[in-house]
Amino acid sequence: MDPLIAPDKARAVADMFGRVAPRYDLMNDVMTLGLHRYWRHLAARAAALGLQGLGLDIGAGTGDLAQALARQPGIARVAAVDLVPGMVARGRDKARRRRSRAAPIAFALADGLRLPFRDGTFACAVSGFTLRNVADLPACLAELRRVLVRGGRTVHLELTPVAGRRLPERLFLAYFHHVVPRLGQVLAGNRSAYTYLPRSVLAFPNAEGLAEMLRQSGYVGVGYRLLAGGTTAIHWGTKG
Ligand SMILES: C[S@@+](CC[C@H](N)C(=O)[O-])C[C@H]1O[C@@H](n2cnc3c(N)ncnc32)[C@H](O)[C@@H]1O
Repeated sequence: MDPLIAPDKARAVADMFGRVAPRYDLMNDVMTLGLHRYWRHLAARAAALGLQGLGLDIGAGTGDLAQALARQPGIARVAAVDLVPGMVARGRDKARRRRSRAAPIAFALADGLRLPFRDGTFACAVSGFTLRNVADLPACLAELRRVLVRGGRTVHLELTPVAGRRLPERLFLAYFHHVVPRLGQVLAGNRSAYTYLPRSVLAFPNAEGLAEMLRQSGYVGVGYRLLAGGTTAIHWGTKG
């Protein structure tokens, strides 16, 4: 069922990502021409900067952001959680095959709205393209704040709605709404997941709106940086 109208969004999202998991990485590389790797590096660096301790990635998928976080100085260990067994299995497998001297990553099946961790466990908590998909965004931001240490940082890499007034934005929207679903059909055998993708961005708060939600959730020092012509953003905030 379409996650945007499903009565149980978490289940609909999990079913959808379970189906696309085998081709998820390929689609990311093709859709962004590999740029997502650089965005993840920026997000992980922003999350860990000047901090020491444990890192968390929620909705970790196949673990690319968790791996970028594990490469940051000061990060001793990363917990990477996701709702979908197929994503967790792929993430674990990819992490096992990597050769770098990064911090260890522990993958687990868990809901970002009910994390199986004690209060004040993590120095930083990140997500990559996850927030759009959670059933209750304020509850998710509050849950992340709960598991952060005081002074800990949360960082989110996410797509951002654009108004489509300027020509580059209109070209992007044409690509996103018409080409991406076709790519999904051809490369992932799943058009509907890649129709949901641009529609879920339209239903998501804009960059200033997400920053305000972080403030409302009690984070301080909230800010964001726009990437890729304003179509993607990295948001951050600190647990004061
Ligand atoms: C678009 S994918 C992003 C995966 C990965 N973070 C990345 O950067 O490529 C969204 C992921 O969030 C997961 N997800 C959605 N809602 C979740 C929740 N409440 N708790 C944990 N994972 C969730 C989905 O299963 C999916 O793997």
